[in-house]
Amino acid sequence: MFRVIYLSSATKLLSNDELSFLLRNAKIKNRKNNITGLLLYIDGDFLQVIEGEKKDVLNLFELIKIDERNRSIITVFSDDVDKRQFPDWLMGFSQLTYHDLQKIDSFENITKTTLSNIDDKVAITFINTFVKSHRNQISFI
Ligand SMILES: Cc1cc2nc3c(=O)[nH]c(=O)nc-3n(C[C@H](O)[C@H](O)[C@H](O)COP(=O)(O)O)c2cc1C
Repeated sequence: MFRVIYLSSATKLLSNDELSFLLRNAKIKNRKNNITGLLLYIDGDFLQVIEGEKKDVLNLFELIKIDERNRSIITVFSDDVDKRQFPDWLMGFSQLTYHDLQKIDSFENITKTTLSNIDDKVAITFINTFVKSHRNQISFI
């Protein structure tokens, strides 16, 4: 299994309809490609976890990098992993603000700048903490 975690910024703020469209198509394709993961949309920034077979994950990441809906992509993590973190989520999704994130334990000072400088271990801790504390705000169907 392979996992990529990246951060990017939306080229322009996306409406709910645009986000639903993106997510619907992503899930259709992810089902075909056996990709799972999590997408967070935080005040116009994306933090995404993509997992699956290495070639499928890297192919998708190349497409996302040239997708005009986002820019300034920062790869936080890209490596082999033992197993999927989100085996049941074709693409879990949550829309939130940096203000929401500051309520999470040990991330009181998180802002866009600190998030973009985050190292892989902190990013993974952050994602785990977020998923545990906000499970009811994640849509995964
Ligand atoms: C933030 C973001 C996340 C995306 N996530 C996925 C994804 O999980 N799966 C996917 O297939 N496409 C995703 N896309 C869309 C891809 O960039 C690309 O448009 C799509 O895979 C192309 O599909 P097509 O070749 O069938 O047109 C995402 C795009 C953006 C901007």
